[in-house]
Amino acid sequence: MKNLILFASGTGTNASEIIRRFRDSSAIKVKLIVSNNRKAGVLEVAQKQNIPLLLINRPLLYESPEVSHILESFEPALIVLAGFLWKIPQHMLEAFPGKIVNIHPALLPKYGGKGMYGARVHEAVIGNGDRESGITIHKVNENYDEGQIILQQRCQVSPEDTAESLAQKVHQLEHKWYAHTIEKLLADEK
Ligand code: GRF
Repeated sequence: MKNLILFASGTGTNASEIIRRFRDSSAIKVKLIVSNNRKAGVLEVAQKQNIPLLLINRPLLYESPEVSHILESFEPALIVLAGFLWKIPQHMLEAFPGKIVNIHPALLPKYGGKGMYGARVHEAVIGNGDRESGITIHKVNENYDEGQIILQQRCQVSPEDTAESLAQKVHQLEHKWYAHTIEKLLADEK
């Protein structure tokens, strides 16, 4: 059995989809949800599925390696960020080298970096007149959105698209590809 830890702080649709996908799997198990937001959408799903939850704040995450020690006790094969906006601290990067992945709602290296999240990303894509956007699944390193790219998938941006309609297209790609990519990464590890 390969264990997953999910970090999610927003609406949580990606995290929820990952939980749904592996609910009945005999190979992959979501062992823990980590969030800095008591109101994160995924918390309700986690509760229903009896997945333990770790609520964190900035001092807990940044001022000591304690969070890494807690995560280690769940023996994760992969730590999956799904809408988690805070920078991953050095102690976690060192404790889990190459084992932390993120999803970004654009085609990196374009439209990445600090402050580039949510509607801002899609507004920038539309503002620049790009004809395509998409998703990037990548490893996490010490810089926002700069780790090794694992997978990109594209969608068309039409002249009628708004940030909201583009966000929907991108979300569809995310839900289609994130769990699938995690599964493949873990299978390739054997
Ligand atoms: C996604 O668009 C993802 O690319 C980004 O944060 C968003 C999270 O959406 N990292 P949700 O909370 O999973 O719906």
